[in-house]
Amino acid sequence: MVDPLLGLLSFLSRSLLLVSAYGYMTPPVPFPSSLEKLVPNPSGEVVYQKSSVYGVVDRAVILDCGLATLLPDIFIWSFTKPGSQEIKNVVYDLGKGHRMQALAQTLGQVTVISNTASLSIERLALAAHGVFTCQAIYDTATEARFYYYYVYLTVRVPISKPYLEVSESSPVEGSPIWMRCNLENGTGPIQYEWHHENMNGSVTVFGQGNSSIVDVNNINRNNTGWYRCRAQNPVNSEQSDRTWLSIIFGPDVPQIDVTPYTMTERGYSALERETVSLMCQAQSNPPSQYVWLYNNSQVFGGPQYTITKILRMHTGDYTCLAQNTYLNTRSKKSISLTVYYPPDGLPTCSVEGTTEHTSLKLLCTWTGGFPSPKLIWSGDLVDQEGVNANTATLLYAQGTASNNSLFKCQGLHMAIKQPVECSVQPYSPAGEPQCFAYVTSNNQNLMLSCSWDGGFPKALVWWEGPGVQGKGGQEASNILILRYGTVRSEQPYVCHARHPLVAQTKTCTVPLEPPVLRTQRRTVTVFEGTDVQLTCSLMDNNLPSNEITWFNNRGVGVMDTSKYLLLRSSAWANLTVRDTDEIQDSGQYRCTTSNAVGGTEVNVTLVVKRYPMPPNASLVSVMYNSPQRNQVDLEWQVHNEEDYKGGWTGFILEYSWMFEKPGRRNGKNESVIVPHPGKIASIWYSSIVQDPEQRAHTLGSLTPTVTYQFRITSINHRTLGHPSAPKSPAEPRQNSLPAIIGAAIGGMLFAAILTALLLMYIIRNRNNNPRLHDLLFGRQHSQSRENINFPEDEVMGSAGGIEDVGGLSSSGPTVALPRAASPLTAPSQSATPSTGQPPTEPPFDDGNEPVNVTITVKAT
Ligand SMILES: *[C@@H]1O[C@H](CO)[C@@H](O)[C@H](O)[C@H]1NC(C)=O
Ligand SMILES: *[C@@H]1O[C@H](CO)[C@@H](O)[C@H](O)[C@H]1NC(C)=O
Ligand SMILES: *[C@@H]1O[C@H](CO)[C@@H](O)[C@H](O)[C@H]1NC(C)=O
Ligand SMILES: *[C@@H]1O[C@H](CO)[C@@H](O)[C@H](O)[C@H]1NC(C)=O
Ligand SMILES: *[C@@H]1O[C@H](CO)[C@@H](O)[C@H](O)[C@H]1NC(C)=O
Ligand SMILES: *[C@@H]1O[C@H](CO)[C@@H](O)[C@H](O)[C@H]1NC(C)=O
Repeated sequence: MVDPLLGLLSFLSRSLLLVSAYGYMTPPVPFPSSLEKLVPNPSGEVVYQKSSVYGVVDRAVILDCGLATLLPDIFIWSFTKPGSQEIKNVVYDLGKGHRMQALAQTLGQVTVISNTASLSIERLALAAHGVFTCQAIYDTATEARFYYYYVYLTVRVPISKPYLEVSESSPVEGSPIWMRCNLENGTGPIQYEWHHENMNGSVTVFGQGNSSIVDVNNINRNNTGWYRCRAQNPVNSEQSDRTWLSIIFGPDVPQIDVTPYTMTERGYSALERETVSLMCQAQSNPPSQYVWLYNNSQVFGGPQYTITKILRMHTGDYTCLAQNTYLNTRSKKSISLTVYYPPDGLPTCSVEGTTEHTSLKLLCTWTGGFPSPKLIWSGDLVDQEGVNANTATLLYAQGTASNNSLFKCQGLHMAIKQPVECSVQPYSPAGEPQCFAYVTSNNQNLMLSCSWDGGFPKALVWWEGPGVQGKGGQEASNILILRYGTVRSEQPYVCHARHPLVAQTKTCTVPLEPPVLRTQRRTVTVFEGTDVQLTCSLMDNNLPSNEITWFNNRGVGVMDTSKYLLLRSSAWANLTVRDTDEIQDSGQYRCTTSNAVGGTEVNVTLVVKRYPMPPNASLVSVMYNSPQRNQVDLEWQVHNEEDYKGGWTGFILEYSWMFEKPGRRNGKNESVIVPHPGKIASIWYSSIVQDPEQRAHTLGSLTPTVTYQFRITSINHRTLGHPSAPKSPAEPRQNSLPAIIGAAIGGMLFAAILTALLLMYIIRNRNNNPRLHDLLFGRQHSQSRENINFPEDEVMGSAGGIEDVGGLSSSGPTVALPRAASPLTAPSQSATPSTGQPPTEPPFDDGNEPVNVTITVKAT
């Protein structure tokens, strides 16, 4: 019975199994009228057919019993648990409706789809997993055919949300880890996929396979990131939440960035005063802790060490120390930083002469700085390549650089923005070198000085000559020291002066010559009594001379005395001989001086002359002007006035008491003036008339009882004329005529005697006292005038009111008195010769026949 059904089923299964697979999708085919064709089972054998169906827990599944469109007449659904031999009925329909068994409830909500033999199981239970067998019997016209349909139902479970398990949440780089994707539910086969999302957010598949676990032998920092896993089975797929995996590592060797970046072969460099930033980065998880060291001592904590306004003292080694505090590991790196700094200040330009000033050397110096600055000379004649040094030099041979050229030196250094410069302008000294000589004090040394000043650089100056050692040149000036007196005239000491800008070496020399003295007049003639100046002046000479010395007419060196006045400067010496005297001061004077190479002198002859004798004057009238006889009016005249133009300066009026006594002496008859028998000696009292034009005068204060005599002498400076014949005054007219006559006779007599006496004396002593002789006899009136030739004569002559000789007189119109003359107005007690002659020297007693005045003029 069963077999034919089974054969039918088998047939159906062979031809229509695929149709069953599409059973839900294809609409049910109407049941065919000829079952034969559909359920072939001609042999009557039971047909066995197998199929597989997949269901999912809690969802619905349909299990078909053969062809869904072919409703069998009888069907029986049984269930066998996997691994069990038992077959248990679920539902059956023996033609009278289906009967659901209790077992069905454990399998889900089982229903039989109406008009079919198919089972619909909703809310499929996991217990439904097993073999469902549908036994179906088709009753055909000819026979019943029996079919066994085995439906293998697989109940699948969806995958629940997995969660990721990591063996180590903070693994250290290089260590092994594993990761597992944990699932609570889900039937296999399950595929796993791991996803890694790195820090940039890009996701990569990290691993996949059917294993829920992944091993990483050597985790590295690149593995840091989010991880999630995805599990997939035929039902569904689910992914876990992401998990952060942090790889602990580092620190790596730090990387140092220097800003601004300047790299040299010796390391990093920076310019002084700029801001330098040192940035240290060392890869590490957790991030590094940084420490900065300078020359091995800590200066900063943190990754970025900024030095604002870096200085040259900050040069050195900088070390960055990185530390991973979690691992307690560290790393470090050092750099060397050099701070470049410019030289101080500005470059200095200078010039100098080298190799004995045959070359001009220009120097540009800029000291300090690191590295060395660059110095570039440029100027009128050159453009020189830069020199990397603190000094740049230019050389010019003598005379090749032109005067006043401007040379500039430019200094460049990487640590300054703008180039700096200096300049120099060499020039030669103006003019020619100057030579001169001078003498040190005490005449120790003769110094020859040579100078050529004003150049830049200074000229080189040196001396050449006998005994000069080498060429010890000096700048600008040079002094040659020679011992005084060792130098001979005309020795060739030559000064050489050289300047690098001047092509030729210049020279100068000091001619060495003895001094030369001059005087205004070789012979000077003056009148006696005046002051005369003798001049002596030095001609210009290259050598300094010693002081000019005057020697007087007796060959004695002149000092300042009352006699001599010495005025001098370095160039002249003027000797004034005061109050000249014919005898004492006439003669040859000498002025001398010397210098380092010799001496010289000049002679001046001084001739002192007397003034010419003034003309004779005589009293014309001498008369009391009253009976009281105490005043006398005098009148006089000058003889041959026209021959003595300006030849006198005044008159001396003299009077004395008259007393006459004849006597004998030495066997000769002489009239001797003797003292008045009373008490007063016979003395001439004198009174001066200073006006040469005056011809009258009144003398007073006379004693009425005394008999007087009067005389007049003209004077010319200190030269006296002949005294006139004495006269006694006449009585006033009318009543005193006899007395006047008597007095006149007596006076005349006395005067005659006196004059005779004097003349005798003078004539006798003519040779001893020629002056007196000449004074009296005027022998040289004319010739003396000719020899006196002062230039001042014209100027002074008229000013003094004295025509010819006033110029030499210091007294001018005032009276120059005779030397040792009698007191002018007061009576004198001295033994003055009664003649009034000046007591000139030599004294009178030199004569062959001396006449002793002291004997003849005696006081009683
Ligand atoms: C796994 O299946 C059991 C039984 O069906 C259920 O109780 C449990 O909630 C499921 N777990 C998950 C995570 O879905
Ligand atoms: C990490 O990745 C970078 C590039 O992505 C690579 O250069 C480096 O070598 C990797 N590091 C390691 C430890 O594999
Ligand atoms: C640091 O070291 C450098 C090089 O060794 C040295 O030139 C510099 O003087 C040092 N600085 C200090 C402050 O010691
Ligand atoms: C060179 O110049 C200086 C200064 O200007 C001047 O005194 C001198 O005379 C000049 N020398 C010559 C040779 O021109
Ligand atoms: C001295 O004499 C000179 C002429 O030889 C003259 O120039 C100078 O002025 C005189 N000195 C005095 C003080 O008189
Ligand atoms: C001036 O007088 C003297 C004496 O009385 C006489 O010897 C002389 O000749 C006179 N001279 C003139 C120029 O008359």
